[in-house]
Amino acid sequence: MRKKVIAGNWKMNLNLSDSIKLVSQIKNGLSENDNVDVIVCPPFTSLETVYTLVKDSPVKLGAQNVHFEKSGAFTGEISTEMLKSVGCEYAIVGHSERRTIFNESDETINKKNKAVLTDGLKLIFCVGETLDEREKGITQKVIETQIKGGLAGINENDLKNIIIAYEPVWAIGTGKTASPEQAQEIHKFIRSLIEKLYSASASNDLVIQYGGSVKPNNAVELLSQEDIDGALVGGACLDSASFLEIIKAAY
Ligand code: 13P
Repeated sequence: MRKKVIAGNWKMNLNLSDSIKLVSQIKNGLSENDNVDVIVCPPFTSLETVYTLVKDSPVKLGAQNVHFEKSGAFTGEISTEMLKSVGCEYAIVGHSERRTIFNESDETINKKNKAVLTDGLKLIFCVGETLDEREKGITQKVIETQIKGGLAGINENDLKNIIIAYEPVWAIGTGKTASPEQAQEIHKFIRSLIEKLYSASASNDLVIQYGGSVKPNNAVELLSQEDIDGALVGGACLDSASFLEIIKAAY
């Protein structure tokens, strides 16, 4: 049985005091449950403080981005070591907003993925097609290219530290969720691709999250699909009641 993993990607939202408020509400509203892992991914500026609030709780901490170099003249960038030093356990890489707004290629994403895993963080690796790609009927081809590119040179041992998040770009922040059947179809495709690239056991153990307008009113149905093992939540994770309801949907 794969454990469900619900992660909140706060994106560029919430200053320090709002971060403290949100994470405290999440922590206090969580009921004990061993079947679900909960991860919060605040902006860099809130990571250290949020860590002090979650470190004795089941809530884990993730970063929204990371650079692949270890240190040096990379103005504005943050290294894996820096993330670890403030209590981060996870890093999100390959988010569609990074791919499109910040022009991150599969090659850059691959370097980041490798840095994350080599340096002992866990990875939330995002993939997903645009509306145009879906309408052209090339969704699976796009996902395959992103996965092969992002995981190039990464061996099976590291897969236990990887979550793949399927986030169709057309469903992000739009209120348009993929139907449970559409999401399940791609999750199953991803699992079979991982079996082809690695092994049946690696594919069977892989946690695949769905992301894209996950809300309390669609979470139960999405999370009950065979190959959907969790959610990467954007907008709805900024409201503690909604995020807690999505977490409960995974129980
Ligand atoms: P929304 O839940 O706001 O659609 O965002 C999803 C997302 O991009 C999470 O990484």
